[in-house]
Amino acid sequence: MYTLKINGIERTFDVEADMPLLWLLRDEADLTGSKFGCGIGLCGACSVIVDGALVRSCIISVSSVAGSDVRTVEDIARDGRLSAVQQAWLEMDVPQCGYCQSGVIMAVTALLETTPRPTASDVEEAISNICRCGTYDRIRAAIDRAAQILAAS
Ligand code: FES
Ligand code: FES
Repeated sequence: MYTLKINGIERTFDVEADMPLLWLLRDEADLTGSKFGCGIGLCGACSVIVDGALVRSCIISVSSVAGSDVRTVEDIARDGRLSAVQQAWLEMDVPQCGYCQSGVIMAVTALLETTPRPTASDVEEAISNICRCGTYDRIRAAIDRAAQILAAS
């Protein structure tokens, strides 16, 4: 049995110790916003925030995050209001197929929580998600826009 706080709610799951966190989120917790892409920690489609740090949930086990505070893309809008990152994504019309985007949004959310005015090199270093649709230019523009929204709030 493993207990985690997921999106602010403590939940206990009877699962194998080596189950990837992504499986737990999608199959046990019914939180399907985090996506399976590569399964080997490369693409970032499965990105979530654990204890304040961005992680790729396909390559970490449930046992290694027992007791942790996990935040998924389902949690970043609050009281019916989009987060700054979500708002910027809409304004800049970022997604194409959309499959990778929840992971990108979580990576950008984590970046802006620690670095509210990121430089181009901060972005380059922090955002390594792969988008097969090639939305990279719109992602960069939307990060700038999200930083503006945050600064004005
Ligand atoms: S599915 Fe986790 S990094 Fe690709
Ligand atoms: S929007 Fe299609 S993979 Fe990124």
